[in-house]
Amino acid sequence: MCGIVGYIGTKRACPILLAGLSRLEYRGYDSAGISTIEKDGLSLVKDKGRVKVLEDKPEINSLKGTIGIAHTRWATHGKPSKENSHPHQDNHKIFSVVHNGIIENFQELRSMLEKNGYNFLSQTDTEIIPNLIHYYYEKEHENTVHAFLKAVRNCCLDLKGSFAIEVISKLFPKNMIVVRKDSPLVIGTCEDEKYLSSDIPAILSYTRDFYFLNDLEFALLENTCVKFYNVNLEEIDKPSSSIEWNAAASEKNGYEDFMLKEIYEQPTAIRETIGSKISLDNKCDFEELRFTKSYLETIDKIYIVACGTAMHAGLAGKNVIEKLCRIPVEVDIASEFRYRNPILNEKILCIFISQSGETADTIAALKLAKRCGSKTIALTNVIGSSITREADYSMYTHAGPEIAVASTKAYTSQVLLVNMLAVYFAEILGNTDVSEISNIKQEMLNLPKKIEETFSCKDAIQEFAKKIYQEKDVFFLGRGIDETVAKEGALKLKEISYIHSESYPAGELKHGPISLIENGITVISILTDSALMEKTISNIQEVISRGAKTLVITSHACDPSMFDETIQIPDTITYLSPILSIIPLQLLAYYISKEKGLDVDKPRNLAKSVTVE
Ligand code: F6R
Repeated sequence: MCGIVGYIGTKRACPILLAGLSRLEYRGYDSAGISTIEKDGLSLVKDKGRVKVLEDKPEINSLKGTIGIAHTRWATHGKPSKENSHPHQDNHKIFSVVHNGIIENFQELRSMLEKNGYNFLSQTDTEIIPNLIHYYYEKEHENTVHAFLKAVRNCCLDLKGSFAIEVISKLFPKNMIVVRKDSPLVIGTCEDEKYLSSDIPAILSYTRDFYFLNDLEFALLENTCVKFYNVNLEEIDKPSSSIEWNAAASEKNGYEDFMLKEIYEQPTAIRETIGSKISLDNKCDFEELRFTKSYLETIDKIYIVACGTAMHAGLAGKNVIEKLCRIPVEVDIASEFRYRNPILNEKILCIFISQSGETADTIAALKLAKRCGSKTIALTNVIGSSITREADYSMYTHAGPEIAVASTKAYTSQVLLVNMLAVYFAEILGNTDVSEISNIKQEMLNLPKKIEETFSCKDAIQEFAKKIYQEKDVFFLGRGIDETVAKEGALKLKEISYIHSESYPAGELKHGPISLIENGITVISILTDSALMEKTISNIQEVISRGAKTLVITSHACDPSMFDETIQIPDTITYLSPILSIIPLQLLAYYISKEKGLDVDKPRNLAKSVTVE
């Protein structure tokens, strides 16, 4: 949802900013722009299109400045166009600004500024920001960096909504000011260089040391130092954090696309997420949680709240918590949860799953739960992300950076982590059979090897993709936990192949959707739960007899002549089965998208990390 980068240092800023934008392009890719501080004032180069369009502009080569800001856009206010691209400047070209987020009261502020003689060239909400900074700067009686900081602060106090903002000014050629509220922004620090970015991977090749701003904290940067201020402009101390991800993790490393690389990284992601927390000899230990038996016994209900794929991981994890802990679990979509007046109190525990840790609806739902007295756990992949600063407790998947818009390794790591949490709670509560817990742990430890084995389906899946890539509709079926995987399989396919895909609980089919089944339509079924297998096979027979083409993903012995294609995957316990059964479906979505010649990593209309409502 828009990517912003910034650089303040000793080298030419432009190539560093362009490299950062390319790495952030997965956050938005309808236009891109850059502004640097040059000897004769602020430069501004921007246009509709991808970062490549910007790179190819001749003016780019003349930018020599060592301080600059840049932006890649995912349009919210105003269509993709040169005028609407960032950076934006005030009418006097004194301030350049890039912004990620949404200014909800921009119309009101724009009218106020228009009354005060300001003109607007774009339809964006962002263009009010440099003008508002100018408006406040004019009211200051001194030309000092502090006056600049005060003008930015006063501007931010007027803004309603979410924002991560970088500001440079031709009046202060050694400085940059950045601030965030409900939108991501990290500051990477080296001795005489500072790097800014919407996320860590984009600048990992320069530094592992990062500062994370809280809402409405301001950073005033020079190349050799950063000063932090609270909203009252009192200087505050901020420790830096060292990030363990390595830079290679954010590169394609020989893979054609990030999505394919991330699919193949799943054994490692699972191994890293297990870490040393799961062993057969010791109890599962999440030292970051420190929950007691007496607290767990007071819980009436657990909500798992998330969006998209992360919500599907919650659905896949519901049953294991209920079975092992005997606590009811409800899984909710964050954008619904936050507006439906859910019953929340201190006896409710809320778990929020978010790969990025920046999803606006999930964070808002978490804040609501906290306000109502419920304990909150953030389950995320990104250390220092906004959600970790809001939640009472944070726990991490260790999947490494996920760059492709379509989530793959984050999903399987999330399903695993929810299972690990269930085991952790169950061991504290002490009311589950020890051998059942040992069996789950053993199967967790077996997962990386079983995922490797699952990859052997690749050729068959690729062939099947060739057969169905021109289809208009595809159906996914399953029962129980397999139905949650059907949901995720359908989402993956529609996201990156633009094929209309729907998932249904297999038993629901004849209550309506079966009327959509006609000759030649593709129906994909997941069959891993042996207790439900026969029932699902009967439902598949019903669609076969109406002419459907069938692909079955199963971990059990099946007569392959029954279906058009059968993909055999390793068996595991039901709770962990989504971690294996989703893999053929991820590969299928990938190869269909490739057959169609689409941009797998950057599907249309989508962006990684949905930081707006
Ligand atoms: C789908 C996908 C999205 C995200 C959703 C939540 O492949 O990636 O559905 O799962 O936008 O994102 P996070 O997990 O970052 O909160």
